Amino acid sequence: MEIVYFLALAFIFLVKTNQAIRLKNVVPITKGQVFPKPQMQISFGTQNILNKNEFRFEYVKGSQICDVVSIAFKRYYKIIFDSRLLRQTNRIKNVSSIKKLTLMVHEPCELYPNLESDESYNLKIASSIAYLESKTLWGALRGLESFSQMIIESDDGSLVINDTLINDFPRFNHRGILLDTSRHYIRSSIIKVHLDAMEANKMNVFHWHIVDDESFPFVSSSFPDLSKKGAYNPYTHVYTSDDVKEIIEYARLRGIRVVSEFDTPGHTQSWGKSIQILTKCYTGEKPNGDFGPIDPTNNLTYSFLEEFLTELTAVFPDKYLHLGGDEVDFSCWQSNPDIAEFMKQKGFGKDYSKLEQFYMQKLLDLINKVSPKSGYIIWQEVVDNNVVVKPDTVVEVWKDPWPEELSMVTKLGYRALLSTCWYLNYISYGDDWKKYYKCDPYDFPGTDKQKSLVIGGEACMWGEYVDGSNVISRTWPRTSAVAERLWSAQNVTNVADAQGRIEEHRCRMIKRGIKAEPFNGSGHCEYEVDL
Ligand SMILES: *[C@@H]1O[C@H](CO)[C@@H](O)[C@H](O)[C@H]1NC(C)=O
Ligand SMILES: *[C@@H]1O[C@H](CO)[C@@H](O)[C@H](O)[C@H]1NC(C)=O
Ligand SMILES: *[C@@H]1O[C@H](CO)[C@@H](O)[C@H](O)[C@H]1NC(C)=O
Ligand SMILES: *[C@@H]1O[C@H](CO)[C@@H](O)[C@H](O)[C@H]1NC(C)=O
Ligand SMILES: *[C@@H]1O[C@H](CO)[C@@H](O)[C@H](O)[C@H]1NC(C)=O
Repeated sequence: MEIVYFLALAFIFLVKTNQAIRLKNVVPITKGQVFPKPQMQISFGTQNILNKNEFRFEYVKGSQICDVVSIAFKRYYKIIFDSRLLRQTNRIKNVSSIKKLTLMVHEPCELYPNLESDESYNLKIASSIAYLESKTLWGALRGLESFSQMIIESDDGSLVINDTLINDFPRFNHRGILLDTSRHYIRSSIIKVHLDAMEANKMNVFHWHIVDDESFPFVSSSFPDLSKKGAYNPYTHVYTSDDVKEIIEYARLRGIRVVSEFDTPGHTQSWGKSIQILTKCYTGEKPNGDFGPIDPTNNLTYSFLEEFLTELTAVFPDKYLHLGGDEVDFSCWQSNPDIAEFMKQKGFGKDYSKLEQFYMQKLLDLINKVSPKSGYIIWQEVVDNNVVVKPDTVVEVWKDPWPEELSMVTKLGYRALLSTCWYLNYISYGDDWKKYYKCDPYDFPGTDKQKSLVIGGEACMWGEYVDGSNVISRTWPRTSAVAERLWSAQNVTNVADAQGRIEEHRCRMIKRGIKAEPFNGSGHCEYEVDL
């Protein structure tokens, strides 16, 4: 008898102590928080239930009806009522139920999103009614994402959503991420998962660094030898025009722009395998068999580029092309006697940045010629080397010290993107997301006018150590820290607060089939990763 009494006491003691332990080393997790944090949100304690069998999405009378949104209705229905995971949702509870989300889109449907697209939306969940309103269809997509994120499973397995008012819009219009598919090839199916993750994080620019020195996986219809000779494997490790179309379409349906980068004049070794446009490097009097950047003195260079750019501006619908222009190595140019002669003729002296400027200027002129409406993005070196570019050029800053650079670029009146502090391919043990979270593109010396020229930023995932096996987990949720910096208000900076929300968001991504890795230590997700 006494023993039973003792055991019972011990049991109570254990349960109590257990409850008393706050697990400090487990990442906290929120429930039903929208990520990235909306600009304005008011939540109430009243909950509404959603039933799989009766719920539907619907346009309000008078709303624009856009295919992108109608397709998104189906996608989000599946995400919300994922039948693999639902325990049950039909339990009768004494709470009101929401039978539909009605949507009002004001402006006529557009085919593709662009840099100026308005992504704002208002969402209202109140008295059993869910109402979403946006100017554009792109805003509607962002609102649907937020709506899906607020729906959570209650303890009995039913799906509930709190009464909530949201008034939301992005802080920056360009919220991008660079993937490099040259150092390692990444299959289209994995790029699509990546686009799903971008949508879940309200990121809107897929910067596709598609080719580089190492390989040329882009299949060109005008120069098929580029990939035939330049890809790792011309049959299995390429993006055919169908693949490219599919990726652009997949992105479009998620309100994501695809900005392709064909980096020149450096980073072009793989191009040289089929087109004789690279500079021959010399040792002494003789070519030594090595090749350097594109040869700006060769006429073939420009006739090739004109035709190739004509193709690119037709294949990629976005107004902007990324033209690269980074890390041009002058040593090969310096070794080549023909180039020395050309420099002499042009009066460039020994200033090889003048030669680079000569090339970039011709490249920009060619784009203006083949596609006058195109805009371009370039890496900062082009401007650092004093190349004159069109006033509406976007300059991507990637070098330290970036505050000085942003200050300089915006003083010249160019629009700018920041990526220096978001090189996510550099990895380290522990919680590196915090430094990404703390980096703010406005933290540079400059006037309000200069700040207004910063149109956003990009996380970068360079491909030397990344391929389909790890690109998703290495990119997410670390990029979520960047996503919130670029979407949410400038004063949303509390790291401790973000931690729990990113953890919830990571688990949400896992539930959606995106293998986002643990990012700040121990913890668990309700639904764990499966094969
Ligand atoms: C998260 O990061 C902080 C360091 O910034 C660390 O103190 C903490 O232990 C980490 N892990 C968890 C679970 O919070
Ligand atoms: C939602 O409602 C529940 C129940 O009233 C409450 O516990 C919870 O804090 C609410 N969540 C939010 C985000 O307001
Ligand atoms: C349901 O809730 C309402 C108000 O919240 C209450 O008046 C009513 O008695 C409840 N009904 C049941 C069956 O619990
Ligand atoms: C290259 O083009 C320029 C201008 O069209 C012309 O003057 C020059 O002779 C050409 N050079 C060669 C080697 O064809
Ligand atoms: C940010 O600023 C807005 C407007 O000034 C304010 O309403 C909001 O409470 C602030 N948020 C934080 C997290 O400080």
